[in-house]
Amino acid sequence: MTAQQQMEGLGWEDNTPAVGRVLEPGLDTTHKVILYLEDISVSFDGFKALNNLSLAIDAGELRCIIGPNGAGKTTMMDVITGKTRPDSGTCFFGQTIDLTRLTEPQIAHMGIGRKFQKPTIFENHTVFENLELAMKMDKRALTSLFAWLDREGRDKISDTLKLIRLDAEADRQAGLLSHGQKQWLEIGMLLMQDPKLLLLDEPVAGMTDDETERTGELFKSLAGKHSLVVVEHDMAFIEQLGGKVTVLHEGSVLAEGDLATVQADERVVEVYLGR
Ligand SMILES: Nc1ncnc2c1ncn2[C@@H]1O[C@H](COP(=O)(O)OP(=O)(O)OP(=O)(O)O)[C@@H](O)[C@H]1O
Ligand SMILES: [Mg+2]
Repeated sequence: MTAQQQMEGLGWEDNTPAVGRVLEPGLDTTHKVILYLEDISVSFDGFKALNNLSLAIDAGELRCIIGPNGAGKTTMMDVITGKTRPDSGTCFFGQTIDLTRLTEPQIAHMGIGRKFQKPTIFENHTVFENLELAMKMDKRALTSLFAWLDREGRDKISDTLKLIRLDAEADRQAGLLSHGQKQWLEIGMLLMQDPKLLLLDEPVAGMTDDETERTGELFKSLAGKHSLVVVEHDMAFIEQLGGKVTVLHEGSVLAEGDLATVQADERVVEVYLGR
């Protein structure tokens, strides 16, 4: 895969629409809510993957989404990022931006970063270069791909390296990192673009217990400055994160609250936790 193809896969191709640039500084979170899905429905050949799903995420929140296989968790992220168009419903980013009217690259440029389960990093480049490339692919930055890295850019990379605990690996080829480290690098690449909202689909799958715990610490440290929506099946990890939990079932919200509350909910035990 070429770097260009990889960039396109990440939704960073160079077709920044004017609307993205105009609307981007105007993210209005005056009512605290950064993301608001209302009555979203998505059907695949008559099967309702999302069924009048409504959900609100506060600015700075760290929200966990759980639920059985096929509940619609990944489909929900596909709708937020513009990969899937809902049949009906709206999805507001801040008070004024309806994401269902925007394309995938437009949504990425608005400040919504998504992490897929398989890390998409540049294996043949060093860890440092991966972060540098991610920063330069950010169309909001003024630097061109060929400009020298300025002091500010270097500091930003250095800060991010520490945050994702890869400062000792900066000059290492990314392909040689452990699975967990590759996941952190991809999160670091997302952070280089200053996302307001981060969507993370099963981020700790395949990680060691130690890597999982460090990832939890990282996410907790990101909350507040960023808003995070984390889909996971790992209950110990959800407990560590400590945020509000939303349980999805058959494309709708079944229960919502702190982990202890949803764990005590009989309906949740029946469809998910009790199995
Ligand atoms: N592109 C598609 N075409 C047809 N059906 C799809 C498509 N994407 C998802 N589905 C179906 O929609 C339902 C919801 O899938 P989704 O991937 O959102 O579930 P999930 O909650 O992420 O599950 P998991 O925990 O297994 O990742 C499933 O029944 C799935 O088979
Ligand atoms: Mg999924």
